[in-house]
Amino acid sequence: MERIYLDHAATTPLHPDASDVMMRLAHIYGNPSSVHASGREARAIINQARDRFAAMLGCSAQELIFTSGGSESNNTAIFGAAWAAWFKAKRDGSSIMPHIITTTIEHHAVLHPIEQLERLGFSVTRVEPDHEGQISRDAVAAAIEPHTCLISVMLGNNEVGTLQPIGAIGQLARERGIVMHTDAVQALGTMELNLHELPIDFASFSAHKVNGPKGIGLLYARQGVQWEPLIHGGSQERKRRAGTENVAAIAGFVEAVQRSYSQLSDKREELIAIRDMFWEELKQYFQDRVVLNGHPTERLPHVLNVSLLDIPTETMLMNLDMAGVMAASGSACTSGSLEVSHVLQAMKLEPERMKTAVRFSFGLGNTKEQAHEAVERIKGIAERLRSRTNR
Ligand SMILES: Cc1ncc(COP(=O)(O)O)c(C=O)c1O
Repeated sequence: MERIYLDHAATTPLHPDASDVMMRLAHIYGNPSSVHASGREARAIINQARDRFAAMLGCSAQELIFTSGGSESNNTAIFGAAWAAWFKAKRDGSSIMPHIITTTIEHHAVLHPIEQLERLGFSVTRVEPDHEGQISRDAVAAAIEPHTCLISVMLGNNEVGTLQPIGAIGQLARERGIVMHTDAVQALGTMELNLHELPIDFASFSAHKVNGPKGIGLLYARQGVQWEPLIHGGSQERKRRAGTENVAAIAGFVEAVQRSYSQLSDKREELIAIRDMFWEELKQYFQDRVVLNGHPTERLPHVLNVSLLDIPTETMLMNLDMAGVMAASGSACTSGSLEVSHVLQAMKLEPERMKTAVRFSFGLGNTKEQAHEAVERIKGIAERLRSRTNR
């Protein structure tokens, strides 16, 4: 039985070109901080990768910092901006702790560092989305306080795919002199990004979501934005992120992203065609017993979150796995049972919808034939479960 991987929002297969580059560079062992020839050889690879990223993402190379992934990029931007605001308040003799705005639908790599800052005394407002998972600019505007130092709103949601109005929210932040961060992990390689055209100060990226290797990421920090590094030590990344760089992973990362951006419109069209065909086939069979979760149009091309109303998430995922289809729920597994996803809860969906939600996410290697075959297997599961309950 052919395995069908429909969990590209969790992680993606390594692109063969990225793999080739990494294998070719695996023997480059020089420390990029060493001034001798071996070091310079490693340094040149990093510099070249940074320049290529800058050209693809519409920013300058000095504004890009390599990290260990999306989580570290998010933590660096959030703690970095928060500490800078805290130091400034101290210098100004203020005893008021800075205020942070985020949303209830962020990835845990944003929610948890902000919870940590809250424990230390920062005040926090968490803006709620609408039923389609979208955050409104006006709701963010209403949350701004005199001491707001940071707004963190993701670009595209990893669970339901809904896109956020980052341009409008970033503009608002800029007008009020507030630092703006966006978690763009799911957007990299699936949509056009021109960082200098977006009114943002920080953006987080991760390689393994875009057919690059795991354990490597990128942080965009706009020139002039005030922040403190998270990891202290050596003077790598212009003293903004200590630690000897993973040269081969950086080279694989840029190669993978280049593959996506060199054929972005074809890639998007293909993903949308597969996703929409899958959805239409599900709708044809399940009729009004299947619903789409998330925004119907303002969404990432690769994510489809649906509720198959008669089948609990856990049952569906287990049966899908046995049938060779890899999908996911945004739910955390605690003590052997699934908790309802915080994103679906924040969207205030009906309990029946939350308890039956499954996320299918598409990417490299998926075909329309696979999507059709996956729906056939889902239909088989539904029929088997139905005949069991009718017995
Ligand atoms: C939206 C979003 N942000 C952050 C992350 C964390 O990225 P990483 O696994 O590279 O730390 C993920 C990965 O699940 C994600 O989907």
